[in-house]
Amino acid sequence: MSSQPTTVRQARRVERLVQGQYTQDGAGVRLTRVLTQDLQQRLDPFLMLDAFGSDNPGEYIAGFPNHPHRGFETITYMIAGRMRHRDSGGNEGLLQNGGVQWMTAGRGLTHSEMPEQEEGLMEGFQLWLNLPGKNKLCEPWYQDIQSDQLPEVTTTNGVLVRVIAGSTHGVTARVTREYTEPLYLDVHFPAQDGVAFEHSLPAKHNAFIYVYRGSVDVLSDQETQTVPIKRMGLLRNEGDGLRLHGSANARAIVIAGKPLREPIVQYGPFVMNTREQIMQAVDDFRNGLMG
Ligand code: CO
Repeated sequence: MSSQPTTVRQARRVERLVQGQYTQDGAGVRLTRVLTQDLQQRLDPFLMLDAFGSDNPGEYIAGFPNHPHRGFETITYMIAGRMRHRDSGGNEGLLQNGGVQWMTAGRGLTHSEMPEQEEGLMEGFQLWLNLPGKNKLCEPWYQDIQSDQLPEVTTTNGVLVRVIAGSTHGVTARVTREYTEPLYLDVHFPAQDGVAFEHSLPAKHNAFIYVYRGSVDVLSDQETQTVPIKRMGLLRNEGDGLRLHGSANARAIVIAGKPLREPIVQYGPFVMNTREQIMQAVDDFRNGLMG
C-alpha cells in the first residue's frame, strides 16, 4: 500500500539526546532503559522504554519469571527472537520476529516473559503506557499481534512503516487508545541515504524517536540535528509534525502521545496516582489478589 506524504509546515526540533542506562531486570536480562523514571513527567503518558538486544544467551536466557503489574499497559515489540508469555488470566502467547504483544495490566495480573531460544539474537523493545486514573483498575486485557497481522504502509518515498499504535499515512494500528492517543511507529528507511519521512503531530503530544539502525536526521527550518544509533531524540513540543531523514537502511521507532497530566506514583511494577493506591497494590499482591 502506498500513500501521499503528510504536509508538515513546521517540524519539531530535538530538545535533547538521551543515552539511556545499561541495567538488568527480571532474572538478570541485560537491557538499556531508554526512558527512565526521571523522564516520566516529561514524556507523559509513557512510563518506561527498555531496549534489549543481544546475541549472547547469557544476557537474556533467564528471562522475566512471574511478576505482577497494575495500573498501566505494556507493549512488547519483538524484532528478533522468541518470547513466551503466560499470565494469571490463563492467557499464553509466543511473541516472535516482528510481532507485538499488547497487555493491559489494569487492576492487576501476574505474568512471565521467558525467551524460547537457547542461542541467537534476541532484540526488541518494551514500552510502558500509562492508564488514566479512572481506568487503572480496569479488567486486564491482552492481545498478541503476529508480524503478518501488523499493519504496514510504504510511503511514496519508499519508507516502510510498521504501525503498532495510532495512524500514519492512512493506515491505522490494531490498537488505539482514546485518552492518550498513543502513536508507535517502526520506521524503516530505504537503501538510499537521506530519504524523508514526515508525520503530523499536535504540539501538545509528547514525542521521541529511538534509532536502532544507522542514524536519523531531525530536520526543521532552523537546523538539522542527527540522532545517532542507540540514542533517543526527545522532541520539543512545537510545530505541527516531524520530518526525519534516514541514513541508508536506518530504522527508528517513533513514539508520541497525549499527556494525562495526573500524578505518577511508581513502586516497581505498580504505577498509580497516589501512595495509598500503591500500598493497596502491594497488599493486594501479597494477598494473592493479582492472580
Ligand atoms: Co512484565
